[in-house]
Amino acid sequence: MTALDRISAYAEELTAIRRDLHEHPELGFEELRTSGIVAETLRGFGIEVTTGVGKTGVVGVIRGNRPGRNIGLRADMDALPIQEQTNLPYASKTPGVMHACGHDAHTTMLLGAARYLAENRDFAGNAVLIFQPAEEGLGGARAMIADGLFQRFPCHEIYGLHNSPLDGPGEIGVKPGPAMAGADFFDITVTGKGGHAARPEAAIDPLVIASALVGQLQTIVSRNLPPTTPAVLSITQIHAGAAYNVIPEEATLCGTVRYFDREASELIGARMAEICDGFARAHGAQIRLDRRNVFDVLVNSAAHAEHMLAAARELTGDGKSRQKDSLVMGSEDFADMLRLVPGAYCTIGHSGDVPLHNAGFVLDDAILPLGAALLARMVETRGAA
Ligand code: NI
Repeated sequence: MTALDRISAYAEELTAIRRDLHEHPELGFEELRTSGIVAETLRGFGIEVTTGVGKTGVVGVIRGNRPGRNIGLRADMDALPIQEQTNLPYASKTPGVMHACGHDAHTTMLLGAARYLAENRDFAGNAVLIFQPAEEGLGGARAMIADGLFQRFPCHEIYGLHNSPLDGPGEIGVKPGPAMAGADFFDITVTGKGGHAARPEAAIDPLVIASALVGQLQTIVSRNLPPTTPAVLSITQIHAGAAYNVIPEEATLCGTVRYFDREASELIGARMAEICDGFARAHGAQIRLDRRNVFDVLVNSAAHAEHMLAAARELTGDGKSRQKDSLVMGSEDFADMLRLVPGAYCTIGHSGDVPLHNAGFVLDDAILPLGAALLARMVETRGAA
């Protein structure tokens, strides 16, 4: 019997776990119930468990039946601040919080792999199971790393995956090299001079400055970067004012920059600062720019991408597991772990046509055994390498 056969034999239990997690989603660093279930389930399989790694993270270690290397497997556990609109019988019971990115499935897949590996232990080395909190822009990977993740649980290689409703059911894709964008977040505070709306000449209107800035900042990617350099600058929030007849004192803009090379990100940051300074001088206002890096560029080592693809092909056949070639401008904080330990990250397709991060997103439980088997096979195929 193959790993996939064995795991498929308990597919119903995996579905039950996944739907329970789906019904009780938790935001980043608040995954108390989820991490409790993870720890309890792992202990039930006879696995050594460490909790509280990076606040709500959990690490399990499964020792194989012969010496070898340590293979890390990572799943994220957090949900999003979205009100679910699926009408599923197991829809979120927590108002305003939803597993709209399928991290409930990733957690379940890793639990499925854990059960199989713990029951068989027929592999060289150790499986290091990394259940990560707060992937959705809150820095869960960095929190685990800062808490000594790889000093306490050294890994020779690490692997992770993400479900994809936009790929065909059971299709597995790996992009060698840079695959997903790095991300900076920024806040811009424009401080002018408040006043009566009917007497603009006595005020310095931060709204006029902020709205002009929105347009001007768009010229950085279109005019300062070579057209062949992929980058995005999006303003995603504008906040100002509270009355019809008052020019407010302050306006704030927030947003994100996505990039694939650090130099492009630095150039964008430098231009943002220059434009803000220029606008401040031109209008007699004060403009403060606060920019910070939140995700690194996700880079799959070519060799490890090939290892993952080889394991995937073994499970799905050649036709369904493929190398991907296009860059994704979205970000993923597994990138921060891949900077420290070589490895790879793949997508696993499932039926559905509603994209991730949407209130109507529905994950197809049929992919749970495949994802679990792929993770398990990374340990079985790489532990002795
Ligand atoms: Ni996600």
